[in-house]
Amino acid sequence: MPSDRLLLRGRLLTFSAEPQSPDDTSAFDYIEDGALLIENGLILRRGSYCDVVAGAGDAEIVDHRPKLLMAGFIDTHIHFPQVQIVASWGAQLLDWLNTYTFPEETRFADEGHAAAMACRFFDLLTDHGTTTAVAYCSVHKASAEAYFEEAEQRNMRMIGGKVLMDRNAPDGLRDTPQSGYDDTKDLIAKWHGRGRASYAITPRFAITSTPEQMEMAGALVAEHPDCFVQTHLSENKNEIAYTLELYPEARDYLDVNQRYGLLSDKMLLGHSIHLEQREIDALAETGARPVFCPTSNLFLGSGLFDDAGLRSKGIVNAIATDIGAGTSYSMLQTLNEGYKILQLQDQKLHPFRAFHWITRGNAVALGLEDRIGTLDEGTEADIVVLDSRATEAMALRMERASTLAEELFVLQMLGDDRAIDEVYVAGKPQKGKAPAVPQPAPARTRKTPAARERDLVLS
Ligand code: GUN
Ligand code: ZN
Repeated sequence: MPSDRLLLRGRLLTFSAEPQSPDDTSAFDYIEDGALLIENGLILRRGSYCDVVAGAGDAEIVDHRPKLLMAGFIDTHIHFPQVQIVASWGAQLLDWLNTYTFPEETRFADEGHAAAMACRFFDLLTDHGTTTAVAYCSVHKASAEAYFEEAEQRNMRMIGGKVLMDRNAPDGLRDTPQSGYDDTKDLIAKWHGRGRASYAITPRFAITSTPEQMEMAGALVAEHPDCFVQTHLSENKNEIAYTLELYPEARDYLDVNQRYGLLSDKMLLGHSIHLEQREIDALAETGARPVFCPTSNLFLGSGLFDDAGLRSKGIVNAIATDIGAGTSYSMLQTLNEGYKILQLQDQKLHPFRAFHWITRGNAVALGLEDRIGTLDEGTEADIVVLDSRATEAMALRMERASTLAEELFVLQMLGDDRAIDEVYVAGKPQKGKAPAVPQPAPARTRKTPAARERDLVLS
């Protein structure tokens, strides 16, 4: 019987901690001529090619040199039913929801539509190098079924949940406190912990949930403390004002979630931009995770996420696309816009911290760093192969790059799906482009043999 062992050769980069400064080389392991031995969807060995190949037996060898192998990217906040309203013109949050988003999400009552969109959604994720995501499905149970079915087919580690929303939304897009509870219970029973799936209890945001529904959400969290919890928090000033009208007894926006017992380190709070001091203290105390969504925050004009301010309190921030208010599926483009949002506040996003963030950092925010987000032995073989010369502009810039940090910054600012040369999900290639033997560089990079040589001396 042929072995299902696979040996991937290339330059390897993986993080063991968050880099504390631009020269904190102790936070990562970089191997110039490295190899990963993969079996049964797991990384069995990581090391120099010479060492790993010696114990690889009859493993199939795939040579990705001079490309860079990293852990697959993790997107911690994305809306699966919004794939067809990305780039919808002219509105800020509440108008955008009413004009584009809610009408679109009503279409996901149709199982066939949800299944077709799930297929396209997962293709887009892997094309952009994302191997794990935390998604909001629509209010319809069928949309969550379609989402988890498709993830299971592809053996992807995915987290998600149907949104709970019982008011301030059109007909066909509301549940009730009881039906939302019942559907969520059924979905958790069926999917949570099945294969690579995990469930996220998902009250959409305070404006679309009555106090009765928030109470039911609290009951779900108490009954399933190992599930994730996700919602939106303090994204937009009009949203905050309306929330406080709807919940006059709440101390602040976060308190709407806190008083129903939703906060813990399993909770992801999308946006978390306009926060009061009490809310920041409560995030620090409970370990709940703010999620920075740069392309969305710029697109909707929502505001500037205070990454350094929150981090200085010991809060663990995640980062995400927030498609469809976000404008790119690419976590590289997400870093690009994130860099600029932090620049506007005189904060810095160094490439080592940036690449840590979209891999191990987001895994830590999810408590999954023992399974995903690194190239460590024993973890799941979700891997991206990055081409820092994927476009003419990148190739030209790379002619003047001499360090790994410079190369990563080129990927961070100029990279997108074109820079994703291959993606492995549990050890299986998704793009089908993996060459069995080294191939000449594709014509579009116009890479000379001398340039390929230069790849190998980057350090
Ligand atoms: N707040 C409540 N729902 C949404 C949504 O779908 N997208 C964004 N960006 N914010 C929200
Ligand atoms: Zn969102």
